[in-house]
Order: sequence, then C-alpha cells, then structure tokens
Amino acid sequence: MYSKFFNLQCFKLPALLLTGMMGMVSGVNAQTLSLAAQVGEKLFFDTNLSSSGQMACSTCHDPNNHYAQPVSNTLAVQLGGPNLKLPGSRPVPTLTYKDNNPPYSDLATNPDGVSTNAPGGGFFWDGRVDTLADQAAAVLLNPVEMDNGSQANVVSKVQAASYASLFIEAYGSNAFADTTTAFNNITVALQAYQLEDTSFHPYSSKYDLYIGNKIGGNLTASEANGLAVFMDPNRGNCNACHFAGAGFNGSVGLFTDFSYEAIGLPRNTTGIPGNKSLLGLATSYDMGLCSRSDHPMPASSQYCGMFKTPTLRNVATRNVFFHNGQFKTLSDVLNFYNTRDTSPQNSYPTVNGVVQKFNDLPSRYHGNIDTQMPLDGRAPGSSTPMTAQELLDLEAFLNTLTDGYVAP
Ligand code: HEC
Ligand code: HEC
Repeated sequence: MYSKFFNLQCFKLPALLLTGMMGMVSGVNAQTLSLAAQVGEKLFFDTNLSSSGQMACSTCHDPNNHYAQPVSNTLAVQLGGPNLKLPGSRPVPTLTYKDNNPPYSDLATNPDGVSTNAPGGGFFWDGRVDTLADQAAAVLLNPVEMDNGSQANVVSKVQAASYASLFIEAYGSNAFADTTTAFNNITVALQAYQLEDTSFHPYSSKYDLYIGNKIGGNLTASEANGLAVFMDPNRGNCNACHFAGAGFNGSVGLFTDFSYEAIGLPRNTTGIPGNKSLLGLATSYDMGLCSRSDHPMPASSQYCGMFKTPTLRNVATRNVFFHNGQFKTLSDVLNFYNTRDTSPQNSYPTVNGVVQKFNDLPSRYHGNIDTQMPLDGRAPGSSTPMTAQELLDLEAFLNTLTDGYVAP
C-alpha cells in the first residue's frame, strides 16, 4: 500500500521535472526507497547472482530500455545458464507497469467493468506466478537463466556481497540464519524495488501529458487519429484487450485488461531453438495457459494457445514482440493484426499451395483463436479493417506511450 502512496505523489509531479530527476539524481533512491527496496536495487544489478557470474536481472531487463531486453539485442529468446549458451523459450517482457498486476484467476474480473469473468492476471506470458516475489524466485533458480542451483547458493552469494550489511539492516542481525527465510526476503526485496522505484512506473510519456491535460501533451493529427483507431471497435479495437481506461487500485491507462487471448500467431521457426520440427512438421508447441501444471489436459483444452495481453506502454522501443518473438518491428505487428485474415499468405508459410494458417497451435485447438476485431475471421481478399494510413497513425500513437518524453 505504502508504495502506491509514493507513486501517486510522484505522479502529481510535473512529468518534465520527474524525467529530469530520474536522469540526474540517483542518490534520491537512498532517501525514498525502503531498506528492502534498496536491497532489491542491489540484487537487481548483481551479476554475481548467476552461475555464469555475468547475468543480473538487468541483463535481460535493461533499465535503458524500460526494463525490456536491450535495444541492441534482437534475439527472440535469451541465452543463460553456466556459459550463457542455454536458450530460454519466450521473449523478455518489460517490467514497467507491473505494480497493479492482479494475481491469476480462471475467472478474473475485467477492469473494463463489462466483460464477463475470464482468465486474467498473473506474471509471465502464461500467468503462472502470482507475485513479483515468486517470479524472482523462479528466475534465480531457472537452469537456463540465472541458474543458481539452490536457494542456499543464492543466500551465500548475498551474504558475501558488498551489500550484506544493508541486508542485515533491512532484515535484522539474524537475517542469514535461516536459508528459507533469507531467500524469501531476497525475493521480497526484489519485489519491493520494482514496486517502489518510480522508474518502473514513471507515467512520463507524451500520452500521460495528453491525458492529464498538461502542457506539451498535444497530440499531432496523426497521433490523435491513431488513438481514435485504437479505440474504435470497428477499426483497431485495440482497447478491447489493451484497455486504456482505469485499471485496479487507482491505476490509469495500463493498456492491458490482463486477459488471456489466443491470437493465432505465425510460428517462429528460426528464433526459438526449442521449437523443434521433424520433416518440416512441428513436434512441440508452446501452448500458453493450458501448459501450466495447474491446468491439466484435456480438461483445460479451452485455454490452449492463450497468452497474457501485455501492456503497450513502452512497446515502441522494443525489437521483439509477442510470446514467440516472431515479429521484430511494430509495423510488422500492426500488419499482422490488419491482414491475418485478409492476406494470410503474408503472415504464414505456404506448403504445397496451402497457407499454413495458425501454424503455431495444433489444429484441434484452433477454435480457441479470437474472432473479434481486428482479427474477426473475414474472408481472404476482403478489405482490411484498417487503411495503410490508419496503420501509420496507430504506430505514431503507440510511440506516444514511451516514457521519458521531453516536450520540444
Ligand atoms: C535470461 C534473461 C532473464 C533474466 C536474467 C531475468 N529475466 Fe525476468 N523474464 C525473462 C523472460 C524471458 C520472461 C518471460 C518468461 C515467460 O513468460 O515464461 C521474464 C519475465 C519476468 C517477469 C514477469 C513480467 C510479466 O509481464 O509478467 C518479471 C517480474 C521478471 N521477469 C523479473 C525479473 C527479475 C526480478 C529478475 C532477476 C532476479 C529477472 N527477471 C531476470 C527473462 C529474464
Ligand atoms: C482480442 C484481444 C486483443 C486485441 C483486440 C488486440 N490485442 Fe494486441 N495483444 C493481445 C495479446 C493476447 C497479445 C499477446 C499475444 C501472444 O504473444 O501470444 C498481444 C500483443 C500485442 C503486441 C506485442 C506486445 C509485446 O509486448 O510483445 C502489440 C504491439 C499489440 N498487441 C498491439 C495491438 C494493437 C495495436 C491492437 C489493435 C490494432 C491490438 N493489439 C489488438 C490481445 C489483443
């Protein structure tokens, strides 16, 4: 709760001032972050917390790219483990605006206030953990990521670190006595850092100036038209899932309703080593929500192919998109939304004259795939939901969601 309080106060600061502060005053953190969050900051940047000795949270979640993978890194999946050679299976999401992400539920309430309860919430592309602390525990031990082997290894590395005394200050003189407690506190500290440090939710985009009626927030004609396309149920309809209204706990404009959807992406055959195929046929699939251990098959088949709707804040600086990293530019993403159904041959491979539509999901689950605008299942060759100009405007609008905007 107290972190929310802190955020709200910062939100009230003029965005320009905030942007300036973020760049200049790193010492500010020491005064405003709780002790736990200060520990979390140290942990977040500590490359020693990996078997390779070279990988910190910040390696994949780069503070210079809104805590998504570095701009220069266009891999669909990152390489981790002892020699930084073991591939992950999904692209790196941004860590911005995760502070009001609710826990997962099959029957989650939708922040839009009208949609029926449906799968929503949770962290990771499939929502399999409920808190930022549990998420941190997973990555510290994941053999293809930080690969620390055991909780005890993580704890002894922290005990030997330069910030061990800070950890003791935060968690008491017995902080290292019990491994389980110490490890839990490490994950809670990482969570506290992400919740409290405003760089994870700065609300400093041009869109924030616009929505707050602030000076410098005038959208260009193109951006304004893009916003209209975004909201229009008969054109982009993006707002149906990337909900721009009020979220939970007083949050605003998170550009997600936390819901799960199957949008039928083309398979990434080159960028994900785990996407094996035999004689040209896929042998394994990332099925999202129904691959979770608590969603056993076949009872959960209705959830196959579904992934979390991500926030679109800071999406414009990314070079890898979607849960399978198949698209590398925002305009390719928008083209996919616009032409998935009208020109499927543009998105999917053609084999023996047949377009392999929805080739990243076994055909028995194709009924799960969305048929709402702009992915409404219209016939090949019919007119697209959006015009070429509307796509350009939409892209211009998405660029207004990038934090750190400085009005000219
Ligand atoms: C090897 C690269 C890598 C490292 C290192 C890494 N992450 Fe991640 N992170 C990812 C990937 C990939 C995902 C998405 C995985 C999935 O959905 O299955 C992710 C997901 C997350 C999420 C969930 C975000 C969401 O939108 O649901 C959080 C939070 C997170 N990481 C925090 C951390 C923290 C904290 C650390 C350090 C303890 C860390 N990560 C280290 C690659 C990494
Ligand atoms: C039916 C719900 C729905 C609608 C409508 C929708 N999206 Fe999405 N969007 C999703 C989901 C779900 C994902 C993640 C899918 C996946 O990776 O499998 C996603 C992913 C994205 C991504 C990639 C983000 C990232 O972090 O990789 C972008 C960009 C995006 N959508 C933009 C848009 C735009 C622009 C529109 C409107 C033209 C739109 N979406 C309409 C549900 C939707």
